[in-house]
Amino acid sequence: MKTIKVNTGRPYEVLIGENILPNVGELVKKVIKAERLLIVTDDIVNSLYTGIVAESLAKSGYQVEIFVIENGEQSKCLSVYGAILDFLADSGYTRKDAIIALGGGVVGDLAGFVAATYLRGIEFVQIPTTLLAQIDSSVGGKTAIDLEAGKNLVGAFWQPSLVIADVLTLNTLPCKEIENGLGELIKYACLIGGEAYELVAKGYQKDTLRAVELSVAYKRDIVEADEREGGVRRLLNLGHTVAHGIEKLSSYTFTHGKAVACGIMAIANAEHRKGTLSSEDYYKIKELYATYNLDYSLPYSIKDICEVAKVDKKAEAKDINLVVIKGIGNCTIEKMELSKLKEYLK
Ligand code: NAD
Ligand code: GLY
Repeated sequence: MKTIKVNTGRPYEVLIGENILPNVGELVKKVIKAERLLIVTDDIVNSLYTGIVAESLAKSGYQVEIFVIENGEQSKCLSVYGAILDFLADSGYTRKDAIIALGGGVVGDLAGFVAATYLRGIEFVQIPTTLLAQIDSSVGGKTAIDLEAGKNLVGAFWQPSLVIADVLTLNTLPCKEIENGLGELIKYACLIGGEAYELVAKGYQKDTLRAVELSVAYKRDIVEADEREGGVRRLLNLGHTVAHGIEKLSSYTFTHGKAVACGIMAIANAEHRKGTLSSEDYYKIKELYATYNLDYSLPYSIKDICEVAKVDKKAEAKDINLVVIKGIGNCTIEKMELSKLKEYLK
């Protein structure tokens, strides 16, 4: 098992291993002094993993209850958020109790936001079970729910007390969800370069644990340097400006990870055209997509995508913070006038 320490305002560890779910109880016990734990999970993950997690936690002496939400992004909403809060309050959960977020990014963001806000904040543990959640969303403390007006519009920075990523849970993920995680994995390959690039280019499945470890270690460094996304954390938004446009235009039927994959290639195309990304690195980025047979063609016109970017929450006044690829392992943040985005992406 690998341990990555995250030194944020409230420090915590990310544990990455194979077949560690049966030991969750003793791992949590070292960190969480609570008597009661509420496992928040979705219906699919519930049928696969709640039994083993709940049993292990109960063996370690916790009183365990389970709150099951419907799987899918639509559950990251005010009404489900309110229902979990009501459950906690009606059941008499106190500040000494804690939440276990067992599932993908939807469960992690939602349960994390509940933890951030119930009684002005209680502890929570992330047990991510999707590729996207293990390499990205479970670490760094961004928690949120969606509004009708858009995704992640209400949230808080609230770090977990512990993250436990069992990579064997990825064996039950459907192909569509693996593909969803690949966008973020390609993002890390481009941001980190070196070994991370090589492993993702070969096929991350050759050493999934190492791929998760490298991604989390990079994210740890970024989050430690900039917990609240005032600067360098924006690098993690590589590909996201275009991705948000695609997701919004598709009414969120196009998955986030696939949209990120398209967004990264759009940036690589633009930088290669400008002559600021070498042909060698450009073709190496294309290789990442070939390895997984991933389509990176934009499903909407650049004009439409840029129109949506104008109302994106990451846009500051007339400028946008765009993450650009100057080389593999060499990405930077550039302020760009929104009016120039269309011309840049062409
Ligand atoms: P998800 O949580 O909806 O999970 C995808 C699907 O996989 C669901 O149907 C789920 O039931 C199923 N599933 C989960 N684990 C499984 C397993 N081991 N075996 C079989 N099925 C399994 O989606 P996601 O892609 O994990 O997360 C997307 C969410 O993450 C979005 O809401 C996005 O906004 C958020 N996100 C947050 C951050 C952050 O930093 N907080 C970063 C990126 C994305
Ligand atoms: N997923 C981007 C971030 O955590 O900042």
